[in-house]
Amino acid sequence: MKFILISSTTLAVFLFAGQAHAADGQEVYSNNCAVCHAAMPPKLSDKSAWEPLIKKGTDVLVASVINGKGAMPPRAGKPELSDADISAAVEYMMTQAK
Ligand code: HEC
Repeated sequence: MKFILISSTTLAVFLFAGQAHAADGQEVYSNNCAVCHAAMPPKLSDKSAWEPLIKKGTDVLVASVINGKGAMPPRAGKPELSDADISAAVEYMMTQAK
């Protein structure tokens, strides 16, 4: 299932991210997520919005971004983002809410 989804482009990104050890969550967030999450809920740094999300756990939140949720398109509308990029961005957002 996963192999079918991985195109050569995402594979290259994935390998690159692997080499760099981890995608830079803040950079992924700024380039792909801030366009919405700087202004609309769940807003970055909004502790009351993030508290219940953090309780759901990283895996659930990462899955929401990969599959899309409500007005958020799958992979935030950027099919080139790898799972590692998305989890780095989610983890960055979770740390900002504390
Ligand atoms: C087009 C605007 C848009 C973009 C781009 C976007 N989001 Fe979202 N995001 C939303 C909206 C709207 C929701 C609320 C969805 C709902 O609960 O109905 C949301 C919800 C979330 C949630 C909570 C999911 C849950 O299970 O409740 C997380 C985590 C999240 N976004 C992370 C990200 C990350 C990481 C990125 C960048 C890779 C991103 N978003 C890009 C609009 C966006």
